[in-house]
Amino acid sequence: MTERTSIHGQWSSRLIFVLAAAGSAVGLGNIWKFPYITGEYGGGAFVLVYLLCIAVIGLPVMMVEILLGRRGRQSPINTMKTLAKEENRTRLWSWIGWSGVLSGFLILSFYSVIAGWALAYVFKAVSGTFNGITAAQVGDLFGAHVGSWPLVLLWHTVFILMTVFVVARGVRAGLEKAVTYLMPLLLALLLVLVGYSMAEGDFARGFSFLFSPDFKKVFYTCSVEGGIESCAFNGEPLLTAMGHAFFTLSLGMGAIMVYGSYMPKRTSITGSALLIVFMDTLVALLAGLAIFPLVFGNNLEPGAGPGLIFQTLPIAFGAMTGGQLFGTLFFVLLVFAAWTSSISLVEPAVAWLVENRGIRRRHAAAWLGFGCWLLGLGTVFSFNLMSGEQYHIAGKTVFDLLDFITTNILLPVGGLAMALFTGWFASRRMSESELGLPDPWFSIWWFVVRFITPVGVLIIFLHAIGVL
Ligand code: PFF
Repeated sequence: MTERTSIHGQWSSRLIFVLAAAGSAVGLGNIWKFPYITGEYGGGAFVLVYLLCIAVIGLPVMMVEILLGRRGRQSPINTMKTLAKEENRTRLWSWIGWSGVLSGFLILSFYSVIAGWALAYVFKAVSGTFNGITAAQVGDLFGAHVGSWPLVLLWHTVFILMTVFVVARGVRAGLEKAVTYLMPLLLALLLVLVGYSMAEGDFARGFSFLFSPDFKKVFYTCSVEGGIESCAFNGEPLLTAMGHAFFTLSLGMGAIMVYGSYMPKRTSITGSALLIVFMDTLVALLAGLAIFPLVFGNNLEPGAGPGLIFQTLPIAFGAMTGGQLFGTLFFVLLVFAAWTSSISLVEPAVAWLVENRGIRRRHAAAWLGFGCWLLGLGTVFSFNLMSGEQYHIAGKTVFDLLDFITTNILLPVGGLAMALFTGWFASRRMSESELGLPDPWFSIWWFVVRFITPVGVLIIFLHAIGVL
C-alpha cells in the first residue's frame, strides 16, 4: 500500500500528537465530571470499575482509534469508508463516522454550557468573590449563577465562539502552543490543590471514599421489609463507569481517530496511547483527591451533582493564602482544558465537510458552532427555566438526557464497532503493520480487541438493560 497523507496537515512531532490527544482527553470529564459522578455513585467501588474499564476497554480502543485514523488519514467517515473498501467490506462501516459526528455535536452542546460556568467562575475568582466564603455561601453562589439563564447563555455563547475560533484556524495553529504549556501547568496546580486538601480537609475520609470499594453500597439497591433485607443488582453505575471511560478518553466518536490521521508515520501508537491514558487517569484521580477531602472536611454532600466542584473548590480558594491567584489560575486552566477538548469534538465533522463538500474550514466551523449553540439552549435551561419535572423527558432534564445518550450509549457503541471492525472484519496484517508491536504484545492486544473488549462492552450493556 502506498502511504496516504492527510489534506489537513500533520502534527509537527510525536510530542505534539500526544499533547493534542491528551488535550482532547483531559477536560471537564476529568475535573468536573469524574468527581461528581463518583460522588453520586458512592465512591470506591465505582472508581475501581471505572479504572478496570479504562484498562480493559479504554486503552485497547484508544490504540484501535489511532491506528484506524493513521491508516485512513481522512475524516472518520471517509477513513472508515476507505478502510472498509480496502478490506472488501461494506461501506456501511462509515456509519461509525456518522455516529461520531452526531455524538460530537450533541456532546459539545452541553459541554460548552458547563465550560461557560467555568468561564464565569474565572471572573468570580479574580474579583475576590471567594475570599473568606463559607460552605453555605458557596452553594448559594452556584445556585444563583446557574439559576440565571441569561448569564449562563452569555458564557455558553462565549465558549462556543472560542471553540469555533480555534477550529477555524486549523488543527495546528493555536492548538499546539496551547497544549504545550497549559497541560503541565494544570497538573502543577492540581498538585497544589491536593496539598491543600491534605493539610486542611478530611484527607483520610476523602481518600477512603475514593479508594475503598464497597460493592454492596454501589451496585445493589437494598430495602428492608419485615426485618428481612432484600437486595437487587443495579446495572446503572456499571454503565456509567464504562460510559465515562469512553467520555474521558474521548473515545468512540472519532476525535482520537481524526487526531491519529494527522499523526507522523514513525510514531509508536502503543507508547502514545499508554501516555495519554496515564495522563488522563492521573488528572482525574488528582481532581478526586483535591475535592473529596474538602467535601468531607466541610460537611458537604458528595452526591451534590454537576455543581460539586463549583461548590467545593471555592471554599479552599477563599481560605488559602494566595487563594485569589490560585483560584483564578485554576478556573483559567479548567477553561483551557475544556477548550482543547471541545475543538476535538467538532474536528471530525469539520474534516468531513472540508473533504466532501469543499466547504471552507472556517465556514464549516461556524455552521457547526451555531448548531451546537442552538441545541445548547436545552442545557442552558435545564438548570433554571426548564428544571421543573413537567419539562423532563423520560425522567431526565435535557442536559441529563443528552449526557446519557451520548456517554452511555453512542460512545460505547461507536467504540465497540471500531473494535469489531479492527478485530474481525479487517486483516490482522493491517493492525500488525500499523502497530509494529513485537510478539507476544501484539497477540495479547489482538486477543483483547477481538474478545475481551467487545464482550466487556456487551456484558455491561446487558446488565444495564437488566438481561443479565
Ligand atoms: N474527553 C473530554 C473530557 O474528558 O472532558 C470530553 C470529550 C472530548 C469527549 C472529545 C469526547 C470527545 F470526542
